[in-house]
Formats: sequence, structure tokens, C-alpha cells
Amino acid sequence: MGFKKDFLWGGATAANQIEGAFNRAGRGLTTMDTLTVGDKNTPRQITYKTLEGEIKYAERLSAIPEGAVGHIIPNEFYPSHSGIQFYDHYKDDIKLFSEMGFKAYRMSISWTRIFPKGNELEPSEAGLSFYDSVFDECIKYGIEPVVTLCHFDTPLYLANQYDGWSSRKVIDFFSHYCETVFKRYKNKVKYWITFNEINVLRSWLQIGIHKNDDQTKFQALHHIFLASAKAVQLCHEIIPNAQIGNMVMYAPSYAMTARPEDVIENINYKRQVEFYLDVQVKGYYPAYKLKEFERKSVSIEMEEGDLELLSNGTVDFIGFSYYMSTMSTIDSSVPKTPGNNILSYKNPNLEVSEWGWTVDPLGLRIALCEMYDRYHVPLFIVENGLGANDNLLSNGQVDDDYRIDYLRAHIKAMKDAVDLDGVDLMGYTPWGCIDLIAWSTGEMKKRYGFIYVDVDDKGNGSFKRYKKLSFDWYKNVIATNAENIT
Ligand code: BG6
Repeated sequence: MGFKKDFLWGGATAANQIEGAFNRAGRGLTTMDTLTVGDKNTPRQITYKTLEGEIKYAERLSAIPEGAVGHIIPNEFYPSHSGIQFYDHYKDDIKLFSEMGFKAYRMSISWTRIFPKGNELEPSEAGLSFYDSVFDECIKYGIEPVVTLCHFDTPLYLANQYDGWSSRKVIDFFSHYCETVFKRYKNKVKYWITFNEINVLRSWLQIGIHKNDDQTKFQALHHIFLASAKAVQLCHEIIPNAQIGNMVMYAPSYAMTARPEDVIENINYKRQVEFYLDVQVKGYYPAYKLKEFERKSVSIEMEEGDLELLSNGTVDFIGFSYYMSTMSTIDSSVPKTPGNNILSYKNPNLEVSEWGWTVDPLGLRIALCEMYDRYHVPLFIVENGLGANDNLLSNGQVDDDYRIDYLRAHIKAMKDAVDLDGVDLMGYTPWGCIDLIAWSTGEMKKRYGFIYVDVDDKGNGSFKRYKKLSFDWYKNVIATNAENIT
């Protein structure tokens, strides 16, 4: 009973939220580099609104001397430019992960470190060797890298020149990038993930599209599905012993009442994520989505072989993020609360985090059951955690007992899903195992880590790392394979 012996305990991060060094060693710009810092009440901004403005902005950023740090544009702070300086600190950071006993480290490759514009034929050797060193460092400590190929960061050039994923050509550029990294790292990386949270991808920021109507969005998504299926095939050909998964944001939804209207509303809500899983795990567009396309007059341009590629490029496992549950109802007067990429109804039975996200450990077991019962493939929780405003004490301690409580309850729910429901669970990589830039707000003070990084919302600080109380606690969870968790 309990978790498998080779259960992949670890932690997760993404390039644009940790690396910094946004213009070093020839790295090209990404859409994420255009995002300013925000906070709970102020959304992050992209500081131009037209294509012309976008190109000018790109020129402005490109003019910043390589390696410049700090407030490189007066009065504007772009968190991805410095991240948590992982680019310079990765050896020490991975050493800390190894101290916790990590078996796996989920991270992403920044596409523009390898192909600065996204469409070159020859990769950047500097970019490739950076990730060689990162993987070597992991392997030195027996940590399996789990690598996401694209975590929200579309090359800016492709957004400017091709309207991002709305262009079918981007599939070939992405496939070339995938082939390059699969060949280069085939002896180092056995676990891959195609697109992060594919079910929340939308807009210029994440996929480079300038119009956000359904037709453009779903056509772009069709290209992303094809690119993902192609990546699965390439991975299997080039690294036969590898496993490659997809990744969705999964927030189980409960019908708010037993009113049948709420129940059907809930079915429709759940289909918003199931659609992505149906395509990527089962390999076809489900009937309910085709009907929705008809209703919305969305007509997907397909080429011969597209449907075959989707059906032959299904994933080996489902990777997903779990932070919260939500509810469905037709009663629009029910109060709402923010959530991970969604505005959720406030569940009166559950508490919310400092950022308003619903805390629901049992929801994780529900998520695991729903997906395993429906798809019958191994599941991998590649993100979960509590964003909280931690306090670094003068003696260097961070007493994040609330985070321990949160994680304990979620791990207990995972264990029940394995022991009581028979779910095949591969691993658990809590989000932001080291503090990083929050995606939604760009804040640093929304911290998830076991390791505190001394930097504030404006990028000021020593960038020194401190172990939080949860560090040793998680180390013990891993060492005991969570046997004693109650
Ligand atoms: C997921 C993303 O949506 O949630 C991460 O994959 C993100 O990139 C995480 O950081 C937590 O969200 P936030 O907004 O608290 O950083």
C-alpha cells in the first residue's frame, strides 16, 4: 500500500518565472518578457496595444545591453527579466533540491534560448549547453528532469511576424525545436511534457495571436494539438524509453445544488477541460465540442492527415496542476472568488488562500478519480501548492507551518486516491519548490517554495536562498515515501 517505490517526488518551476538572464547568451525575447509586475488588485500590463507598438517595444528591449540587470527601463519592472536568477544560481538550487531528496525536478526549456526567434534552422549552442549543465547537475544527484517544452513563453518574433500559433507554419518551427532537444538530451531526459496548462492557453500573451475570437483561438489550438501530437511521435522515435505527457489545469467542479440546471451547467463546465484531455489522450475531437463549434460557427481548417496525427500522437500520461476546486451554477448572483486562471464561485464549505484561491484537499482526490476513471492512463501531479506571503525572520527562519498543513492534507488525499481508489499515480512535483515569480500577478511575495528567495516584488534583494520550515518536513515526507502522513 502507499506510493510506488519509484514515485517521482520533487518540485516544479518554469523558465520564465525563474531563469532571469532574459537577454544573455543570445536568448531571444518571448511574449512573457513584455509583462510588467502587478498585484492582487492591479493586473499585469503589456505596455503597448498595437502591432506597431509591439515591434517598437521589441526593438527597445533588444537595445538593452546583454547582461544588464536591475531596473533597465525606468519606472517599468518586468519580472521575467531577472526571475530569481536561476541562470546563475542553478547549481546551488539543484543542490538544495537534492538535500530534500528530490527524485524529480520539473522545469521548462525556454524555446528562445535554443532558437532565439523560434524559426531558425541552426540552434544556439550556448542555449543547448546551458540546459546540458542543468540536466547534468540533476543527474549528478539522481534527480530525473521532467521537462516542459513550452510553459507559456512564445517567441516574440513568431508572435510579431506570424501571429503566433494562428499560423500553421509554427507547427514546423516547434517540431524542429522538439527534434533538436530530443536528440540533444536523449540520454539525459526521460520525462517530457508538451504544453503547460493547454486548457488555459489563449491570447497574444500565451500563444501570440492578435485576435481572440473563437475562430482564431480554436484554429490556433488545432495547430497546438497537432504540434503536441507530433512532439509525442518524435519523442517516441528519438527516445524510445521516454514518457511524454500533456498538461492541463484541472479544477474539479461541483454542481452547486441538486437542481438539474446546475448539474447540466456542471457537465458543460467539466467539458471545458475534458475536451483537451479527449483530444490528447483519446486522440479525437469529442462530439460535444464539434456541436459547440457548429453553434459558434467555428470551422477548423484541417489538412489531410491531421486527424490521423491526433489519433497516433496520444500521450503516455496526464500531467496536471491542481490548486483548487470550483462550482457550477446558473445562479449568477453567487459570490465569486479569484482562482488559477479562472474566476470561481465561492464555495461556502471551503476556505480560500490569501489570494482567494479555494483550498480543497479532497478535491485533489476527486480530480485523480475523475481523470483516472475516464482516461485509464498514469497521472502525474506536476503542480500543487499554497501561494502565501511568507515572513523572513531576522534569524533567517521562515515558519511556514500553514504550507505544511496544506501540503500534508493534499498528500493524504493523493494517498487515499492510490490506496482506496486504485489510481495509478506517477509522481508529485509541488509548484514553485523554490520561490519564484507568480504567473498571475508577477509578484514575488506570492511564495510557494520550500526555499525562500530574498527578492521583492520590484526585483530588489540579495537573491540569497533560505530553507523554510517546510524544507525539512518535505525532506522527511520523501525519505519515508509519505508512509507516516496522517
Ligand atoms: C499555473 C502555472 O497556472 O499556476 C504556473 O502553470 C503558475 O506557471 C501557477 O505560476 C501558480 O499561479 P500563480 O499565479 O500563483 O503563479
